[in-house]
Amino acid sequence: MENTQTVKVEIPEQQGYSYPIIIGENLLNQIGKLAKNYTKAQKLLVITNKTVYPLYGEQVKASLEGANFEIDFVILEDGEKYKNITSLQTIWQRAIEFKLERKDAVIALGGGVIGDMAGFAAATYLRGIDFIQVPTTLLAQVDSSVGGKVAINHELGKNLIGNFYQPKFVLTDTLTLKTLTVEELKVGLAEVLKYAFIEKSCFCHLNTQSFIEYLKENKDAIFALNPDIIQKLVKYCCELKAAVVNKDEKESDIRAILNFGHTAGHAIEKCSRYDNINHGQAISIGMKGALHISRAKRLIDENYYKYCLALLDLYKLDYKIPNSIAPEAIYQAMFNDKKILSGKFRFILSTGKSEVGIFSDVDKETILESIKIL
Ligand SMILES: NC(=O)c1ccc[n+]([C@@H]2O[C@H](COP(=O)([O-])OP(=O)(O)OC[C@H]3O[C@@H](n4cnc5c(N)ncnc54)[C@H](O)[C@@H]3O)[C@@H](O)[C@H]2O)c1
Repeated sequence: MENTQTVKVEIPEQQGYSYPIIIGENLLNQIGKLAKNYTKAQKLLVITNKTVYPLYGEQVKASLEGANFEIDFVILEDGEKYKNITSLQTIWQRAIEFKLERKDAVIALGGGVIGDMAGFAAATYLRGIDFIQVPTTLLAQVDSSVGGKVAINHELGKNLIGNFYQPKFVLTDTLTLKTLTVEELKVGLAEVLKYAFIEKSCFCHLNTQSFIEYLKENKDAIFALNPDIIQKLVKYCCELKAAVVNKDEKESDIRAILNFGHTAGHAIEKCSRYDNINHGQAISIGMKGALHISRAKRLIDENYYKYCLALLDLYKLDYKIPNSIAPEAIYQAMFNDKKILSGKFRFILSTGKSEVGIFSDVDKETILESIKIL
C-alpha cells in the first residue's frame, strides 16, 4: 500500500506467528481490502463505542461493505467503567445472534478500552476467532494495540480477567488522532515518553539519535500532529514494543520493563477510583516516582534525574497526586497489583542513558519517601 509504513510483530512462542501493523494517514477506507487479505471471514462484527462510531463508523462500514463483507456493529457505552463482563456479554450475545462462525472475525474500532475488550471477546468466542485492531487513540496506537494483551476489568482490579491473543493485523490511521482532545493525546504521550526512558533496554537499535532528544526537538510538531513526525513516532514506539514482545510475549521476564512508571501509576489510578486522575496523569506521576527511587538508590545521578523530569515538564506531564490520597493507601494498592511476584514488588527503575532494570529490593521507606514528593 502506498504511503504507509509497516512494523512486523513476531511472536516466536507461537510457531513463529507474525502480523503487520500498517501505519499511515487516511487508511480507514482500506480496512475492507485488508480484511480480505488477512482473514477468511465472511462476516465481521465491529466493536466500537458511542463516541467513535459517529466519527468513523460510516467510513469503516462503507469500506467493509465495498469488500462484500456481511457486517454488524456493537456500539458500547464509552468509558473504562464499561470495560466489564456486562459489555463482554453484550458482544458475545450479538456474535451468537449474528451467527458469527469460526472463520469470521471481530474488529476493534476505538481506543484501548475497546481494543482490550473486543480482543478478549474474540479470544473467547468459539474458543477464539480472528481479530483485527483499528486503534483510534494515541495510547492505543503506540501501546495497547501491540503485543496481544486483551482483558476486561473486575470490580477488584483492572485487567484482572484476560488473555494473550494476537490480532491478524493492526490498521493504524494517524488521521484519527485529529479528533482527540489534548488531554487524551497527552495520555498517549505519557506512554511515548515511557518508551524514551526505557529505549535502550528494548532490543531495538534503529535510531542513532536518542528518543529523548528526538522528543525534545519535535514537541511542537508532535502536538500539532504533523503527519510525518507523528507517523515516525507511532512507528518507532511500535518497533520498540514489538522488539520486547518478541523476546517475552507472556511477560515472564523482560516484558515487565514496559511497566516503567506503572506500579505506582496503577496504584494511584486505583486510589482515585479511576475518577479524578487519568491513566496518562497517573503513569506520569509513577515515572517521576520511579526516577526518584532510581536516584535514591544511586542508579542514576542528579543530572540524569533532572534531564528526565525536564522532558515530562516539556510535555506538560508534571502532575501531582491529589491531596485526598494518602501515601500509605498508594503503597497498599501497589501490593494488590497483579504484577506483584511472590508478594514482592518488581520495580522498573532507571539505570541511566534510557536504560532500565527490574528490581525487587526496594524497601517500604524508600517507596513512601518517593510517594510523598509526588
Ligand atoms: N492491552 C495493552 O497492552 C494495554 C496497554 C495499555 C493500556 N491498555 C488499556 O487501554 C485502556 C486505555 O486506552 P485509551 O487511553 O485509548 O482509552 P479509551 O479507549 O477510553 O479512549 C479514550 C477516549 O477517547 C475516545 N476516543 C477514541 N478514539 C477517539 C478519536 N479518534 N477521536 C475522539 N475520541 C476518541 C474514547 O471514546 C474515550 O472517550 C485502558 O483500559 C488500559 O487498561 C491496554
